[in-house]
Amino acid sequence: MAPRTRRSDLRLCPIMPAHAPAMFRWMKDPAVRLGVGIRTEASLERTLEWIAQARLPGSGVWGFAILVGERHVGNVVLDRFDGHLSTARLSIYIGEPDERGRGVGRCAVREALAHAFDSLKLFKVWLTVHDENVAARRTYLSLGFQEEGRLRGEFLLEGRRVDAIYMGILAEEFVTREQLAARGEAR
Ligand SMILES: CC(C)(COP(=O)(O)OP(=O)(O)OC[C@H]1O[C@@H](n2cnc3c(N)ncnc32)[C@H](O)[C@@H]1OP(=O)(O)O)[C@@H](O)C(=O)NCCC(=O)NCCS
Repeated sequence: MAPRTRRSDLRLCPIMPAHAPAMFRWMKDPAVRLGVGIRTEASLERTLEWIAQARLPGSGVWGFAILVGERHVGNVVLDRFDGHLSTARLSIYIGEPDERGRGVGRCAVREALAHAFDSLKLFKVWLTVHDENVAARRTYLSLGFQEEGRLRGEFLLEGRRVDAIYMGILAEEFVTREQLAARGEAR
């Protein structure tokens, strides 16, 4: 059976300063740090600064808190906006360990793609993911991202060089999948 890409109990809302303490806690979790590739040491002050910057009009950053029911379980972010090319980068982490592997990541990425293509009218959403992040790669592939390139050795995983995979999805690909899904013919 095709995996679900929508959940009625899941929604995205803009990241607010009130979300910072949970984000700070998640930034210290090795699963998040190694998955995303966080380089700097986490601090509550830096987290609040990032939120304030992201919320500025014209920042080119759209940060969303992932809510399951009313529980904030992770974030999905569009940044590196390129207005000339109409592209942006997507990143995601499910901070609460008990919510990983339950379909939250896939549904949240789909919601963020809907925002990117339906509201922001982007041409393409891209990301990089390290070769050994199986959960993330499966998440993106299952939503229609394509692997566009391999950046040899461009990720340091606990001091070990691994390849980073560049993945992208075009608006037309997302729209086609949504239409097929609406007809019950795809995910
Ligand atoms: C990567 C992440 C966002 C995926 O979200 P999730 O809610 O855990 O994943 P889902 O339950 O939606 O599952 C999506 C796919 O990943 C697979 N998956 C989930 N957890 C997995 C695991 N531990 N090992 C292997 N595959 C896994 C699922 O089987 C599914 O693939 P399928 O459709 O081929 O079966 C989440 O695990 C996470 O936040 N990890 C830590 C931070 C991170 O790595 N972020 C991504 C950086 S690029």
